[in-house]
Amino acid sequence: MMKKLRIAFAGARRSSSFFRAFQAHPHTEIVALCDLNAPTLAEAGRVTGIEKLYTVYEQMLDEVKPDAVVVATPMHFHAAQSIAALERDIHVLCEVTACVSMDEARWLVAACKRSAAVYMMAENYTYMKPNVLVRAMVEAGVFGEVYYTEGEYLHELSALHHTAEGKPTWRYYWQVGVNGATYPTHSLGPCLQWTGERLDRVSCIGTGHWTDPEHAMEDTVLLLGKTASEKLVRIRLDMLSRRPHAMTNYTLQGTKGAYESERRAGEGNWVWLADYCPDPNQWVPLSQFEDEFLPAIWRNPPPEALNAGHGGGDYFEVMDFVAAVLGQAPPPIDIHTALDMTLPGLVSQESIRRGGEWLGVEDSRRW
Ligand SMILES: NC(=O)c1ccc[n+]([C@@H]2O[C@H](COP(=O)([O-])OP(=O)(O)OC[C@H]3O[C@@H](n4cnc5c(N)ncnc54)[C@H](O)[C@@H]3O)[C@@H](O)[C@H]2O)c1
Repeated sequence: MMKKLRIAFAGARRSSSFFRAFQAHPHTEIVALCDLNAPTLAEAGRVTGIEKLYTVYEQMLDEVKPDAVVVATPMHFHAAQSIAALERDIHVLCEVTACVSMDEARWLVAACKRSAAVYMMAENYTYMKPNVLVRAMVEAGVFGEVYYTEGEYLHELSALHHTAEGKPTWRYYWQVGVNGATYPTHSLGPCLQWTGERLDRVSCIGTGHWTDPEHAMEDTVLLLGKTASEKLVRIRLDMLSRRPHAMTNYTLQGTKGAYESERRAGEGNWVWLADYCPDPNQWVPLSQFEDEFLPAIWRNPPPEALNAGHGGGDYFEVMDFVAAVLGQAPPPIDIHTALDMTLPGLVSQESIRRGGEWLGVEDSRRW
């Protein structure tokens, strides 16, 4: 019988979204958990039955020697903790974003090159059913050449900017304390997959400060990206404006069709396709194309997937990560794909500082 992969976690709060997927997987067992906050750690230990609980991450890696670790700590720990694991040849599934600076990106790439372990970034929105279906339809050519995509993440998170005691949290500093697209991957991930090319250069501008001038981030920031073949990607990030959230707004335009995602709950996702829709003014529901194009993973999803967070994304990315660790397939979001989704946001922070100047985005494959 195959030996089970021993999985450890860092950051008990977000990790809890992955516990069930790993527990349900026949080839994995959860062996240890790390969190700086003692009550959070104890509660996660109680819920999961995990006995090996740590407050020091490296100590967990060295004592438990897990096969893989899930890095689900705040963003500014992602690169350092991923590198610490990779240096020990421990496989990494890391939350978004991959890193918070260009230097960290380079260190991460170097660590991946030196390591025998797998690195994958957990960009769960790329696994949501409509996004997976649209991607399959793009790959089948029904939209023609896709030359414009758009993604919006509108999520007012001010309740999470301070603790109950009024102290600023990591989100206060790293998400809205920096101007630019600090958290772009949920929008960029699907858009880049549909566009089929990485961003070559970006420009970023914002609305100015209206809701809460205390934060460096402008209320809404727009990241415009161009690919080498001049395709256009538009990302809107807003974590401050007062409004109901809408984290999965997407648009796609190709030479033979268009896609408009649901903007308000219940409105549905819509496509128009030249080869399928005789009326040029009539949108049809995306769901009509499930029979023909829906990939296998979404045809008969298990209850764990249907109950998982973020439209099943938190389940399917775990399945792909385990498959990659077992050598069955490459990780779908490897280090370079992760940086394709992360670096435009980092460059956008310099662009917005320079009044929206177009700046090149390096291709980490060349490093
Ligand atoms: N993909 C998604 O849909 C999604 C959703 C939510 C959060 N996230 C990401 O997950 C990460 C965690 O977010 P969250 O909402 O759980 O944050 P959170 O602030 O609610 O929890 C962070 C936890 O990490 C612990 N922690 C902080 N520093 C640590 C360290 N150095 N070592 C070990 N533990 C440490 C804290 O004590 C806390 O329990 C962030 O990077 C966030 O961007 C992703």
